Amino acid sequence: MAMNREIHAIGLDVGTSKVRCVVGEPSDNGKMNIVGIGEADSRGLRRGIVTGAEAVSEAIKRAVGEAERVSGLDIQSAVVNLSGEHFRGENKNGVVAVAGAGREISEEDVERAIESASAMQLPSGWEIINRLPQEFIIDGQDGITEPVGMSGARLESLVHIVIGPSAGRQNLQKAVRRAGLEVERMMLEPLAAAEGTLTDDDKEYGCALVNIGAEITSLMIFGRGAVQHTAVFPFGGMHFTKDIAVGLRVSIQEANKIKHHYGCVGSFMMDDNEKQEMIEIMPVGRSETRGLSKEILCDIMQPRAIELLQHIAQEAAGTHAQISSGVILTGGGSMAKGMVEIAEQVFDAPTRLGYLEPAYFGGLAEQVQSPEWAVACGLALSSMRTQVREWNMGGKSHSRKVAEWFENFRDKFR
Ligand SMILES: Nc1ncnc2c1ncn2[C@@H]1O[C@H](COP(=O)(O)OP(=O)(O)O)[C@@H](O)[C@H]1O
Ligand SMILES: [Mg+2]
Repeated sequence: MAMNREIHAIGLDVGTSKVRCVVGEPSDNGKMNIVGIGEADSRGLRRGIVTGAEAVSEAIKRAVGEAERVSGLDIQSAVVNLSGEHFRGENKNGVVAVAGAGREISEEDVERAIESASAMQLPSGWEIINRLPQEFIIDGQDGITEPVGMSGARLESLVHIVIGPSAGRQNLQKAVRRAGLEVERMMLEPLAAAEGTLTDDDKEYGCALVNIGAEITSLMIFGRGAVQHTAVFPFGGMHFTKDIAVGLRVSIQEANKIKHHYGCVGSFMMDDNEKQEMIEIMPVGRSETRGLSKEILCDIMQPRAIELLQHIAQEAAGTHAQISSGVILTGGGSMAKGMVEIAEQVFDAPTRLGYLEPAYFGGLAEQVQSPEWAVACGLALSSMRTQVREWNMGGKSHSRKVAEWFENFRDKFR
């Protein structure tokens, strides 16, 4: 990859609890150097959806302003994450006859095959968010990933199609514009989390990416190099906070502090001494603190973690997908002590936190080496990969359209 200082890739993760911005540029060794980061507390979103555009755009301005100061750049556009509890994925297929001379499959044939798979009835107000090709079948030969240039009479596409309500996307777009930025492209949150944390082997041999945010958790299952399943659940880290607030009669702020400092979702992570360690808590309406053992705090959090993960594991099991590469947890909610260990048991599969792939990131990567930054970093990386590819192709608009479809499909297409 040639070095190109003209390219700047901006990822903007507008989350329910935090807005995060990452600025990257291509480096000589093929990685993306992170040259700017910014973070701000978020307001005006509920379960990933904009409910107050003004508040959201203020938070975006703060996060982007910080990233501008760190990078010394003037940020004008960004790839933005798209989330919400209503997205869902469906696997579809489409068949077309190959028309051209010598029956050689063209990019246009591929587009038609994908288009034909996308013909579906949508609930009113819903739209197709993403078309993610899984594989192609040419005259009965399956498993084909690069059909263009091959010969055949009948081209079939298998496509994972993600659908969702259009209002959510439009309102987020407005909030970003209101903050003075252009939306370069929108990308589904779990797809962005996967971009920077999964290897090609993970996607090939199969894995489940689980992004645990503040109020929603998304699941994306990969296999044979492509997305096989998408689902979103209306729960996340905030539910632990609420349980603690109710169980201990403390404020939400206090509950959040307790969770972050002393929280644990697996009692087996603590020895007897630690279980008996006392935490000072300040109940609502009291002027004195009282003591609470770490064991009792864990008793509140552990059942909720098991319940949350069981829901997701059940959904994953229902797809009968092979997840030989295991489970990868991203999002702030995955950082609770013991979450990985509990997930390992519930999924009965190897589980790890989704840290940034060292082969993909350089620069300030150390500073964002935490699963809550996976989405913002993945968005920036995706922007950079698209820009580098366009630059290599000299900006041909037709192949660019096809290239967009192959986004996050296979390395060969990048
Ligand atoms: N160390 C931690 N232990 C437990 N929960 C955490 C920790 N760090 C962050 N969280 C929780 O993660 C959630 C936020 O995750 P994040 O991915 O930033 O969400 P969103 O994308 O929805 O804004 C919050 O509920 C927060 O309390
Ligand atoms: Mg998030």
